[in-house]
Amino acid sequence: MSISHFSVNACLLPICSLNGAAVTTVEGVGSTKTKMHPVQERIAAAHGTQCGFCSPGMVMSMYTLLRNTPEPSMEDIQEALLGNLCRCTGYRPIVDGFKTFCQVSAIHIFSFSITNIESDDTFQADDFRLVDPTQDFIFPPELMIVAQKQSHQRMVFQGERIKWITPADLEDLLELKSQYPHAPLLAGNTTVGPDMKFKGILHPVLLNIGRIQELREIKECDDGIWLLFAACTLTTIKEKLEEAVKVLPEEKSEGLHALLETLGKVASKQIRNVASVGGNILSSNPKFDLCSVLAALGCSLTILSKDGSRKLNLTEGFFTAVGKTALKPEEVMLSVYIPYTKKWEFMLAFRQAQCRQFAFSIINCGMKVIFFEGTNVVKDLKIFYGGAGATLVSTRNASQQLVGRKWNDNLLTDACKLVLSEIHLPDTAHGGMVEYKKTLILSFFFKFYLHILQKLKAMVTLYKIRFSVFPLGCQIGHRPLLIISYSEALFSQPLEDPVGRPNVHQSGFKHSTGEAIYYDDIPSIDGELFLVFVTSTRPHAKIISIDTTEALSMPGVVAFLSAKDVPGNNKRRWFHDMVELFIEEEVMCVGQMIGAIVAETREQARRAAQKVYVSYQDLEPVFFTIEEAINHQSFFSPQRKLERGDVDVGFETSDQILEGEIYMGGQEHFYMETQGVIAVPKGENGETDLFIATQHAAFAQEVVANALGVSFNKITCHVKRLGGGFGGKIMKIADISAAVAIAAYRTGRSVRCVLERGEDMLMTSGRHPFLGKYKVGFMNDGTIISADVTYYSNAGNTLDESQFIIEKALLHLDNCYKIPNLRGRGIMCKTYLPSYTAFRGFGGPQGLMVIESVINEVAAKCGLPAEEVREINMYRNESHTHFRQSFDASNMVRCWNECLEKASYYQRRQNIEEFNKQNRWKKRGISAVPIKFGIGFTKGFCNQGAALVNVYKDGSVLLSHSGTEMGQGINTKMIQIASRILKIPQSSIYIVETSTASVPNAIPSAASFGTDAVGMAVKDACENMMNRLQPIIEQHPKMSWEYWVKEAYLQRISLSSTGFFKGPNTDVDWERSEGNAYFYFTFGVCCSEVEIDCLTGEHKNIRTDIVMDVGQSLNPTLDIGQIEGGFVQGLGLYTTEELKFSPSGVLITRGPSQYKIPTICDIPEQMNTSLLQNTSNPHGIGEPTVFFGCTVFFAIKQAIAAARKDVGLHDNFTLNSPATPEKIRLACADQFTQMVRCVY
Ligand SMILES: Cc1cc2nc3c(=O)[nH]c(=O)nc-3n(C[C@H](O)[C@H](O)[C@H](O)COP(=O)(O)OP(=O)(O)OC[C@H]3O[C@@H](n4cnc5c(N)ncnc54)[C@H](O)[C@@H]3O)c2cc1C
Ligand code: FES
Repeated sequence: MSISHFSVNACLLPICSLNGAAVTTVEGVGSTKTKMHPVQERIAAAHGTQCGFCSPGMVMSMYTLLRNTPEPSMEDIQEALLGNLCRCTGYRPIVDGFKTFCQVSAIHIFSFSITNIESDDTFQADDFRLVDPTQDFIFPPELMIVAQKQSHQRMVFQGERIKWITPADLEDLLELKSQYPHAPLLAGNTTVGPDMKFKGILHPVLLNIGRIQELREIKECDDGIWLLFAACTLTTIKEKLEEAVKVLPEEKSEGLHALLETLGKVASKQIRNVASVGGNILSSNPKFDLCSVLAALGCSLTILSKDGSRKLNLTEGFFTAVGKTALKPEEVMLSVYIPYTKKWEFMLAFRQAQCRQFAFSIINCGMKVIFFEGTNVVKDLKIFYGGAGATLVSTRNASQQLVGRKWNDNLLTDACKLVLSEIHLPDTAHGGMVEYKKTLILSFFFKFYLHILQKLKAMVTLYKIRFSVFPLGCQIGHRPLLIISYSEALFSQPLEDPVGRPNVHQSGFKHSTGEAIYYDDIPSIDGELFLVFVTSTRPHAKIISIDTTEALSMPGVVAFLSAKDVPGNNKRRWFHDMVELFIEEEVMCVGQMIGAIVAETREQARRAAQKVYVSYQDLEPVFFTIEEAINHQSFFSPQRKLERGDVDVGFETSDQILEGEIYMGGQEHFYMETQGVIAVPKGENGETDLFIATQHAAFAQEVVANALGVSFNKITCHVKRLGGGFGGKIMKIADISAAVAIAAYRTGRSVRCVLERGEDMLMTSGRHPFLGKYKVGFMNDGTIISADVTYYSNAGNTLDESQFIIEKALLHLDNCYKIPNLRGRGIMCKTYLPSYTAFRGFGGPQGLMVIESVINEVAAKCGLPAEEVREINMYRNESHTHFRQSFDASNMVRCWNECLEKASYYQRRQNIEEFNKQNRWKKRGISAVPIKFGIGFTKGFCNQGAALVNVYKDGSVLLSHSGTEMGQGINTKMIQIASRILKIPQSSIYIVETSTASVPNAIPSAASFGTDAVGMAVKDACENMMNRLQPIIEQHPKMSWEYWVKEAYLQRISLSSTGFFKGPNTDVDWERSEGNAYFYFTFGVCCSEVEIDCLTGEHKNIRTDIVMDVGQSLNPTLDIGQIEGGFVQGLGLYTTEELKFSPSGVLITRGPSQYKIPTICDIPEQMNTSLLQNTSNPHGIGEPTVFFGCTVFFAIKQAIAAARKDVGLHDNFTLNSPATPEKIRLACADQFTQMVRCVY
């Protein structure tokens, strides 16, 4: 009996399948209390944790890799981590920490270039402990014994609603299948599990085949056929075939190579470790990749039942409908036969997804051609497409007609027409993207054609062609290179002063060991209940009735709560509007809170919530888009305007004028920790404690108090840390908390609510979509004379923070450019969608995107590189914004020059031009964009921070402040500051949590201003404390801190001090278009290079260089973390993250399968980040670099323009954000898109 270690997705693994298995979790790997595992140590030490919510997953994937492969390659690391998402770090530091496990020779680039600092690294890899195998758990011997005993026994678990049966063996399985013909067979549970969880499908009986040895084998048969048994995992198959192809002759392994290519791109390692080949085939899901390849390979299946066996060919006829095959209910699949290919047989497989990896394919296909020996004449052709219909599609007729034809351009033209005419993809096809899918169908055939042509060329010597391959696999072999420049001030500072040093995140080791506590880690309190919301399913409707009879009769259900149960106010004022907590009469979007079920368990509450029946009367109007809102004139007020110069006169004096528009889609926060709260009623006077994931505890306190009808002082919000926030945990969480607090108040019991990912995405929404319309006047040399821009934001159905967001967009309208005549208008559209809210950058990334688009358009019109137009129009030295705030642009210009130089921009631009001339189907682009980003709140009263320092008699210090730790490292920086002022080691200072009881009336941790405001307050509090201690210190200068503290206590000196920071009185006079909107501006420049595959629209991020002015950094590695993390979040915003709604306003993209945030293979192959030297700017850095993701967008646009140029199309074309593969492909117009459009 052998033991295998593999990583899995805990949420997909049925607990019953674990019988006999040993489970290792992050807690079992190592601990700060005993001994950390090197994996845990290195990810933290390399600054690879921010909020830390993803860290245990990262650790476990890496740990498993090391258990199986002690000296992994970079490719192994990438494969192991691909299924682990991180929303904070941008992955680079995680990989840096883990690559220290690689043999040095396996790492292509492993050098950090750090200037001006004595220690020459962000972490000291030399200090790392080596992996000690004796630290690893051994597989429990008793489980081995149990496994041996149980291997031939049927096992049954009977649950409340489901019976789980593990058959003793294959024979037993056939017996059970005849008894329970409709019971699914569970192998990996990666299809059945999500169906049960998300679609509510209930299977009363489940037959677990994962342990049946006869179904888990792989055999190489004598007759040259591979036999894969149905329950073999995709990982096992991949590993076995990888070994096999190493020794097989090339012609025999053609098909296996194609299969391997596909296998490597199916899901992630964690899924492949459990997903079976049988499950993949029998799920009959056209998005799954294996069927098209196996069908093209000419595979057949062996099917068994109690009555015997039969063979079925795996072709399109095998799949009868989605989820249905030719198998009878009592039958099971035993195995799949894979034939070898022979000489003159060629095979390829393709797939294209929304992003490069870890995404379901939009179209997948397998293609095999056989030639008459020694010729280029087609003997047989097999083409299968997945995603081109409800089930697997074959172009059988086309293939037949091509038999006997020569493999040449005539065949290509005819094949494209035949294939296209045979595939019926109606406009209403599931998943949409019909034009793109059709284009992909042709593109894949063209790639196949070219590839075979090349092979034939070598074999037949008939052809002379120039060929360009498409090596767009996901590779991070060339690891990002991090160049950090630290402040020179560090030289002169005492060693014990931690300010400015690259300290590890204060919770880093707790993150990586799983010891960091998030709200949902708090153990349940006796009698605790769970709350699940009942939300609206109509976009605009009157609520007629709510029927809770069935729900309330269900087991464990305690109560249903709605507006009438609110003890205080169900409504609260938000500027001119009233916001309703539970909707009573009229719903205005899908996902609004109508009520909530409270039950003993989460599952009971979830089931009961589905049985609350709300009847509606639909109302008009209903619309969701900005364009529709404009047609309906549906806007929130106020409408804002900023203006400088005389725009109309400016147009008159310009050489040229252009008008255009750009649309930018929204973005989901996708913090790893979903929103939620635990409300604990204290039993007296409405006192309630809330343990809550919020960036704005004081606002939650206020909203809860309003709903309960109690004063603020009865409500205490506790925030230990957030698993990411990004602006999404400011507003919506307050209403969620109020509902949960009401449940606690009504029941007198603690109540917990943790939103599922889908619920969270549906209810809490994200970044505002924007439409920018512009008219711009410019001279022929690219100087912009005049611009008139109107921003329309889609605000959703309530105001939320939309006003401040559109204002931020307007205030960033000029970005870094001195446009003498500039007018901007901001209009918030009211639609029937969930209300959009704050998101990192807060309108900046949208507003800036529009003006950068303008620059690109102007450049295209003038025939100049966009960077030249940027330079021509750039602010220099002392300048004024379009709202007359003065600033010094010299650091901005320094960043620009430094970045272009470090990126070798001009040289690379030339190289790219050359590359584009040489390659027809791959194109590259490069773009450099600067940023000027306002830091602080435009509402002056928000610019404040507060802190409390309590010193205890033993000398330990408890620090509280008004910020919230959400990964950005505010606690680490505050401890660094306190340590400097109090002159005590950082280890003596502790931060427990953010609490409304310690620091009242705090502003949200937002606007990149948290560290500024809170840092000054902490400094103030510590200085106050030191002032009190000063007389004692002077009296006993040689004594210790502990002595001074004790002495102060004895002298009745208060050891509790507060600190406060009153920030600048920022404000904007919108009538006069002037004001000091921001405390100061942060500057930076980013330059990115990409490569696109013109045939599929896939892109690869080749290199990114960032130079950022963060002033005198408090902690450069934390700041670098913010820079890189922000950039990668922006990468997602502008390229992969696309939100889709159904025609009735339901968000369709409600989880990681449909909504693609960047994965580890989306980050640039090389990434250079530097901090500007010798600068005294302050240091707000959380938000600005999200915008830098647009450099990738504009580089893509440039690459598309190069492709269009090849077919004589102009480079002035619209590309909306995000630049998904679909948009890229369709913009790269060519003969294939044209062919599709003619048919379309
Ligand atoms: C996050 C995620 C990402 C994914 N990405 C991809 C991707 O990129 N490409 C891709 O191709 N797939 C992808 N998948 C799908 C995955 O590959 C399939 O779900 C998996 O192969 C199914 O295998 P399973 O063993 O888990 O099936 P299970 O869920 O255990 O079973 C699936 C179905 O197959 C039937 N079945 C299983 N074995 C037999 C048998 N021997 N005889 C008869 N019926 C049988 C069951 O009755 C059931 O109806 C992804 C899945 C997830 C969860
Ligand atoms: S650190 Fe990875 S999600 Fe926050």
